Amino acid sequence: MKKSIYLIIAATLISGSTGFAQKKAVPAANKTMDTYISRLMAKMTIEEKLGQLNLVTGGEATTGSAVSADVEGKIQRGQVGGIFSMTTPQRIRKAQEIAVHKTRLKIPLIFGQDVIHGYKTVFPIPLGLAATWDLALIEKTARIAATEASADGLNWTFSPMVDISRDARWGRISEGSGEDTYLSSEIAKVMVKGYQGDDLSKYNTLMACVKHFALYGAAESGRDYNTTDMSMHRMYNEYLPPYKAAVDAGAGSIMTAFNDINGVPATANKWLMTDLLRKQWGFKGFVVTDYTAVSELIDHGLGDLQAVSALSLKAGVEMDMVSEGFLNTLGKSLKEGKVTEAQINNACRLVLEAKYKLGLFEDPFRYCNDERAKNEILTPANLQTAREIAAQSFVLLKNQNNLLPLKKAGTIALVGPLANTGSNMPGTWSVNAELNNTPSLLQGLKAVVGDKVKILHSLGSNLIEDAAYQERATMFGREIPRDNRSEEVIIQEALDNAKKADVIVAALGESSEMSGEASSRTDLEIPAVQKRLLAALLKTGKPVVLVLFTGRPLVLTWEHENVPAILNVWFGGTQAAPAIADVLFGDVNPSGKITATFPQHVGQVPIYYSHKSTGRPLAEGKWFSKFRSNYLDVSNDPLYPFGYGLSYTTFSYGDIKLSAPSFKAGGSITAQVTVTNTGKVEGKEVVQLYTRDLVGSLTRPVKELKGFQKISLKPGESKEVSFTISAEDLKFYNAELQYVAEPGDFQLFLGTNSRDLKSAEFKLM
Ligand code: NOJ
Repeated sequence: MKKSIYLIIAATLISGSTGFAQKKAVPAANKTMDTYISRLMAKMTIEEKLGQLNLVTGGEATTGSAVSADVEGKIQRGQVGGIFSMTTPQRIRKAQEIAVHKTRLKIPLIFGQDVIHGYKTVFPIPLGLAATWDLALIEKTARIAATEASADGLNWTFSPMVDISRDARWGRISEGSGEDTYLSSEIAKVMVKGYQGDDLSKYNTLMACVKHFALYGAAESGRDYNTTDMSMHRMYNEYLPPYKAAVDAGAGSIMTAFNDINGVPATANKWLMTDLLRKQWGFKGFVVTDYTAVSELIDHGLGDLQAVSALSLKAGVEMDMVSEGFLNTLGKSLKEGKVTEAQINNACRLVLEAKYKLGLFEDPFRYCNDERAKNEILTPANLQTAREIAAQSFVLLKNQNNLLPLKKAGTIALVGPLANTGSNMPGTWSVNAELNNTPSLLQGLKAVVGDKVKILHSLGSNLIEDAAYQERATMFGREIPRDNRSEEVIIQEALDNAKKADVIVAALGESSEMSGEASSRTDLEIPAVQKRLLAALLKTGKPVVLVLFTGRPLVLTWEHENVPAILNVWFGGTQAAPAIADVLFGDVNPSGKITATFPQHVGQVPIYYSHKSTGRPLAEGKWFSKFRSNYLDVSNDPLYPFGYGLSYTTFSYGDIKLSAPSFKAGGSITAQVTVTNTGKVEGKEVVQLYTRDLVGSLTRPVKELKGFQKISLKPGESKEVSFTISAEDLKFYNAELQYVAEPGDFQLFLGTNSRDLKSAEFKLM
């Protein structure tokens, strides 16, 4: 339907007269939105209002076993507010046409999807994106994702995922920005900005949905969907700020988490969604549940579907994803006085407001443009950005004797179950990735080196020895074919190639589906069968480069001791393969730094740099003392600390220069350091600023990230990097949950990672 005709019909329904309709065409000011929605709601029955609260799948199950049935029939009956996981302008137009032509009030649908790290142009998994520490580039990925997804008919994304996680056993650590509150908050803001732009009604923006509210990343034992139980000051200081940052950045919606929080599941948690989110934070958007999270409250033990739906609405949820508890039980609850009409009205209004802000009342087909779908997806420019950011996300963990970069000459033995799989490159949560069109590492290397290098490829080992486990770890079309020959025969084939090669590149680690939702692990090592292959390769005496694929911090203690070079490439997206080649051959100098601590041993988990001191800390230089806080078998140190990552060059740090030894609230000081590239190639360095509050009314972390700058230096070049610190940077939530900076002594650290730092002291007066 043409826009002008639609406007007349929609406004006619609202005003009751075509004359009014022609004069008033839904302008954007808030007052107008309120009036428009009030008039529309005045015409809505309770059933129609409940329909707006119902979010269905496009007919396929996505992340659970429930499937929405009879979707077309439901749209026609006004029982659907939005659809998710339906794409392409053609399909979306068809569904939207039913909503705006065949329902009484012609209210358009909202169309959402999990556009997590890119749409068809897939960028690195979020944990990899975070490792770039490049906010402008991260924002650009969200902008590109929004452009592509909106070109394909969507207007809403279930991203950013801002859950802090300090437990690498949790598979979804791959979907967030890691362990740090400050960095995750900065990333949350730019993601929202990238998706939403400055005007949600623009045809190329998506409404963001911050998730999972809240504390999903603190699941006990790292087991997905598990309980969280947390003190209020830890919540406020460490886990909640990224959600708040995304809300403050204007995110249009927020998704409840599956987990229980201190005894009340998030999806029924009034304190969380009403007191904190609405009243304290002033959130103006709408709250949607996670997939079937309303009906899952039954298994949490909160009652039957009618009871839990009422609980959830009253707690502050506006939209029910897939459970259909709102649709099917809230009418009854209203009649029985268990919920009020005002509660239903409030939820309905917020959902309609989102549609208004997206411009859907003005033009329900604003995101259905066949030309855009043809021209704006997987463009050469988007692919170029994907290649660039993938290369920036890789983290060089070890590089003994400068084994890397490799020369574009000679023979390489490329070995390992991850060496020739394109479908595993995009990583978890990349539902729109064109798996058959994504080059494998083998293809990427060949494309970049042409016939300058001879590449001998072999499998070397299965992904996992246990075939059933391998199957669980390679779902959703991310197969890695199994070789049923004996392990010895498969290894021997690799060794035969290795003998003919100058260098061995071992592509090992996790498959993409070994992290992500419902992919928690208790063992954080590279699967044993791959480690046996690696040991055999090392025995040849040839130089070995481990190209590590992973969606989480792994335990690499043995690898660190034995393998000369380790490049962590996460899952780098559509252009991962050429990007890996760019880094392996030195066309790009790696600059990624990990944003989640890599433990020495799984028993250290949860492990994170910004921990508290105990009353019995270890003395400097000791790793064990009886009756101190430590382990008998390994030191407390991580294998690789937060913020760590090497480069093909080296950097030196001068001493810290403080502009003053102290400052008063309202004032600030500047900390300056000179960073020099002391190596032979140009490189990028992430200069990191940490502080420690030495005496507090509550115990304070031993270090907290407060700032960072990514700089580029030519060989021999020096730059002065300066940071301004004000009382605002030193604030925390005290025992009364007041956000305060407490006067006293502070330490300040500047350096290359959270362990290797220069320090100075200052006073807040
Ligand atoms: C479940 C996941 O927890 C959530 O992140 C996702 O957005 C929904 N399913 C919808 O696919």
